[in-house]
Amino acid sequence: MVNVIENLKKIHLPFFTPFFVCLDIGTTITRIAIPNKGIILSEPTCIGQNTKTHEYIFFGGEAQSIIGKTPNFVSIVHPVVNGVISDFDAQVALTRKFVEQAVYPYLKSFSFLRPPLAAISAVPHRATEIEQKALAEVLSKVGFSSTYIIERPIVTAIGGGINIFTHRPHLIIDMGGGLIELTIISGGGIVVEKTLKNAGLAMNHLISNYIYLKYGLILGEATCEELKTSLLNFNDDAKTIMIRGKSLENGLPKSIRIKSAEIKEAVLSSLIQIADVIKEVIEIAPPEIVDEIYDKGILFAGQMTQIPGIDRYFSQELKINCVILDDPGNATIRGLMRLAKNPADLDRLSNPTI
Ligand SMILES: Nc1ncnc2c1ncn2[C@@H]1O[C@H](COP(=O)(O)OP(=O)(O)OP(=O)(O)O)[C@@H](O)[C@H]1O
Ligand SMILES: [Mg+2]
Repeated sequence: MVNVIENLKKIHLPFFTPFFVCLDIGTTITRIAIPNKGIILSEPTCIGQNTKTHEYIFFGGEAQSIIGKTPNFVSIVHPVVNGVISDFDAQVALTRKFVEQAVYPYLKSFSFLRPPLAAISAVPHRATEIEQKALAEVLSKVGFSSTYIIERPIVTAIGGGINIFTHRPHLIIDMGGGLIELTIISGGGIVVEKTLKNAGLAMNHLISNYIYLKYGLILGEATCEELKTSLLNFNDDAKTIMIRGKSLENGLPKSIRIKSAEIKEAVLSSLIQIADVIKEVIEIAPPEIVDEIYDKGILFAGQMTQIPGIDRYFSQELKINCVILDDPGNATIRGLMRLAKNPADLDRLSNPTI
């Protein structure tokens, strides 16, 4: 009898309205939302595997917090690289865990017949068809019976409150952990686009190299992240923090004090490159569009915009007003939630071939 009930629960009846789940699987953070509930999960896109048993044993924040501290039979991976899935099995395991943890509690109210689960997710504009299919396949393996995949810059613009179907162009820049997507959107589509890989994680590598060359100190991933988020700013706020690394000379731990100015020096070349590419995007845009962009300014999304004063830095470099969206890290997931509530737009924007 119990088995019959369990099997009945799994039946997905087509006349049931789907239960929409929004998933923004970012390079550094995975965000999951349910349209009328809001964001129900925000965890690092990180997973740990026991390489002896091949079992995945650490997920999200827990996996992230033990990077560099694990025995050699535990491997911690970031299954998304530069916005696309690079480790399929790890991504399936991680998404399954997140969905079980965050979404399943909301399905308990459907005591007998569970509605079909529909996933709404986004991929970078530059993702290849194979990369888009990999995402769809992950979602299908996790138990979603239908998937809607939309280009991420469009979703982020919707999350930023832009009506993307008007012919009023907007330049939106999403600065995340793995990608910087610079996009001019007008008339429901992308007019000009450029993508850079020197996003948040690449900045951590620049910091690591700088400290290595200047002080002969090897730093862990978490220390580089801490240096960036605590010290980097464009408000002339001179801070210092003490960090510990491994000395190149004798392999022993060594502490040094690092200043904001040094972190700025370490990453400045990357920010100059971003400013140059923003100029290029504006230069290649049709003249009708450029005027409006200068009028409205540039919109910034993504968690990297949390560098204090970064809007002022770009405004000065580019001589255009730069505006950071409210809650910029959640712009993409907000856009997915808006689309979940608007089936007509969802059908119009999702890739029908996936
Ligand atoms: N105060 C801060 N200063 C500098 N960088 C920050 C700050 N806060 C967060 N970040 C960086 O923002 C990045 C994460 O941004 P976000 O959450 O938008 O990325 P994501 O959506 O996971 O990745 P992507 O969209 O590129 O696939 C990380 O690299 C993090 O270090
Ligand atoms: Mg993102």
